[in-house]
Amino acid sequence: MSPISRTIENTDLETIVGLAKRRGFVFQASEIYGGLGSTWDFGPLGVELKRNVKDMWWKSMVRDRGDIVGMDSAILQSPEVWKASGHIDSFTDPLVECGSCHRRYRADHLGDTCEHCGASEFSEPRQFNLLFKTFMGPIEDAAGVIYLRPETAQGIFINFDNVQTTTRKRIPFGIAQIGKSFRNEVTPGNFIFRTREFEQMEMEFFCKPGSDEEWHRYWIDFSDDWFKKFGIRGDKLRVREHEADELPHYSKGSADIEYKFPWGWGELETISNRTDFDLKAHIERSGRDLSFFDDDAKERFVPFVVEPAMGADRSALAFMADAYDEEGEGKEKRTVLHFHPDIAPVAVAVLPLSRNEKLAPTAREVYDLVRDNFNAQFDDTQSIGRRYRRQDEIGTPLCVTVDFRTVEEDNAVTIRDRDSMEQIRVPIDGLREALDDQLAALREACHG
Ligand code: GAP
Repeated sequence: MSPISRTIENTDLETIVGLAKRRGFVFQASEIYGGLGSTWDFGPLGVELKRNVKDMWWKSMVRDRGDIVGMDSAILQSPEVWKASGHIDSFTDPLVECGSCHRRYRADHLGDTCEHCGASEFSEPRQFNLLFKTFMGPIEDAAGVIYLRPETAQGIFINFDNVQTTTRKRIPFGIAQIGKSFRNEVTPGNFIFRTREFEQMEMEFFCKPGSDEEWHRYWIDFSDDWFKKFGIRGDKLRVREHEADELPHYSKGSADIEYKFPWGWGELETISNRTDFDLKAHIERSGRDLSFFDDDAKERFVPFVVEPAMGADRSALAFMADAYDEEGEGKEKRTVLHFHPDIAPVAVAVLPLSRNEKLAPTAREVYDLVRDNFNAQFDDTQSIGRRYRRQDEIGTPLCVTVDFRTVEEDNAVTIRDRDSMEQIRVPIDGLREALDDQLAALREACHG
């Protein structure tokens, strides 16, 4: 199968937002009450898309390797964690206010004039802390203040010793985690790109001091390849090293994997060399020993950490934007999402030619067979042509059609390929293998 090409290079964000809503990928949160700024709900297809992104990441990081284990830490942690990590003191953005309409902006995201009213007078920047605060327990006083985590990483650092001793992993090894994080962003926006509640996929790789630079390079290349493997076009990705003045407070060196979104380049993932900053900070504040004893070299040291940190929501948006295409003209026009088969919310759709009762029992049997092995959808409404278009628009790689020949003549079905729209006929008892083969070929063709 030849690589998948696109008819259009890029689309605008409104088109993606429209499709996301129309097809049930993403809805405005609290919509019936007028919406809550920068929060989004993932619908039936969006949740499958994001789940696939997370599952593929988990598979690549944890299941397919022997040197990384997973964990799932609490969102609420002792405030001491955020004191030690530097988030209470340093997790800030510079905030300015428009002198005319009083809108607030991040100083480092600001042009010359206010986007809202065009004024060019702004207040002096002041540091605004991004931590979300709440209270634990019934008394809302200073002693009850607690924070929603702004990154999943700290839950890993504070469990370094628990995980290392229970798994008996030797350095170098990693701990991966997927979960929600919260930041009171000054300027959220661009749909699900920058929100105040989002999901992260983070892996902390603990290594020997001195080997950190090499591991940093390794994880930058790995991350870049990961997006390409799952279908993002290589020319829409770039690696950008941070300038010294944009490094996070914990980092000795960071690189972003960026995607060329409809509005320009945007960060999908940051790979940072966090040195021994976090473990040392927790050793100091908690008094607990978080060092590692190397039996071979007979030496004890505090490991260095290299961290690939990715956003699940942003990545889902990049997968959607990158897959988007419009082909043909007039009546032949179709919108298609060229998703990689492991990212597509639905892998195989089963479509009886019509609702005729002669077809129904076999169509149901085929659906049961398919859904045992693939994420499948059954649809018998409207004309077959419309149903193909609907599956194209949600990026379903393969459609299986049950027709009258199936039940009257050959006990075979048609498989239609989303990208070429070609159809082949296969016997039902060879269907599983035929679908496996076609999806395997598509995986190859999707490599960006
Ligand atoms: N532990 C390191 C860390 O959190 P980060 O670069 O601040 O690093 C990692 O965040 C990733 O999390 C980002 O590359 C991005 O994909 C995602 N992310 C961060 N803030 C986000 C936000 N407000 N909305 C959506 N995703 C966000």
